[in-house]
Amino acid sequence: MIDLRSDTITRPTEAMLESMREASYGDDSRDGDETVMQLEALAAERTGKAAGAFMPSGTMTNLVAVLAHAQRGGEVLLEASAHILVSEIGGIAGLASMFHRAVPGKRGAMDVDALREKIRPMTRNNLGTALVCMETSHNQAGGAVLPLAHMKAVNTLAHEHGVPVHTDGARLFNAVVALGVDAKQIAQYTDSIGFCVSKGLSAPVGSVLCGTEKFIERARTFRRMVGGNMRQAGPLAAAGILALNTMVDRLKDDHAAAKRLAEGLHRIDASLVDPNDVETNLVRVDLVASKRNAAQWSAELERKGVRVSPASATTLRFVTQRHVGNTEVDYAISAFSSLWQKG
Ligand SMILES: Cc1ncc(COP(=O)(O)O)c(C=O)c1O
Repeated sequence: MIDLRSDTITRPTEAMLESMREASYGDDSRDGDETVMQLEALAAERTGKAAGAFMPSGTMTNLVAVLAHAQRGGEVLLEASAHILVSEIGGIAGLASMFHRAVPGKRGAMDVDALREKIRPMTRNNLGTALVCMETSHNQAGGAVLPLAHMKAVNTLAHEHGVPVHTDGARLFNAVVALGVDAKQIAQYTDSIGFCVSKGLSAPVGSVLCGTEKFIERARTFRRMVGGNMRQAGPLAAAGILALNTMVDRLKDDHAAAKRLAEGLHRIDASLVDPNDVETNLVRVDLVASKRNAAQWSAELERKGVRVSPASATTLRFVTQRHVGNTEVDYAISAFSSLWQKG
């Protein structure tokens, strides 16, 4: 089976498994754990923030960031297809008591003029903007990376209105590699940022939320409230440290594999995907020119040994990751091609 459903299926490296065996077993919720603290310090250093807090998931870093930044009942402004909006089960409403307003965007980047129109203070008639969120790389936008100039414009606008900014950087390091910058250069345009070590970076579990010391202290309280204190998380943090120290540069291989896949599919039919849209490791394939829907395509590809996820009724999502090389990509292209011939 060639698994192109997600980069979350990556297995830990041998070095990670070794470091997990040797990690400390302090109680992170009581006296702290040495390895967790090392990972948090490394994450803070990489993002240019003062502090970090290790959490079980990207979803939790987003939820805790919203809880820690925002007054209950305020409005969160975010791009209409943001992961927080479409894939986190309404947690910011159901658990953080926040209202949201979606801002239209292109390739995951909010229309800054539309954001300017929506951002507003609390009055008798308005809830008021409590937080602005960005996402890079952007999942629903096929792994698109926010240009730094866009992040700067959003950050400046929000701060002019006294509104903090959080960035969902679940795949921050894919954006780092695509832009050829340090994580700090991205994170300078956001008050807080969360990233996952569990995706293309190959650690089994975990995300780190980074921000000021005061913000992270507050975040730790909310992390406990939502059940995110992991106690003896040393082994998970040990894998996370190796993820940051050894697995970032190789993400360029995943990006090259995604580009190769997009080019191969584009050769089958140009309407499927524009390879120029593929900036990182996600490839969204548009099936409107096909007679079959995404669920049928994914079932038929599975029968040929290729696993992909339907992203909508007419869209498939292919994700490249460490266990997929050129051979697997070429096989996936030929499997797709043989099905395409059938109409
Ligand atoms: C952009 C984005 N944010 C957040 C998440 C949530 O991460 P987790 O699955 O660790 O909760 C994901 C997961 O794919 C994601 O793509």
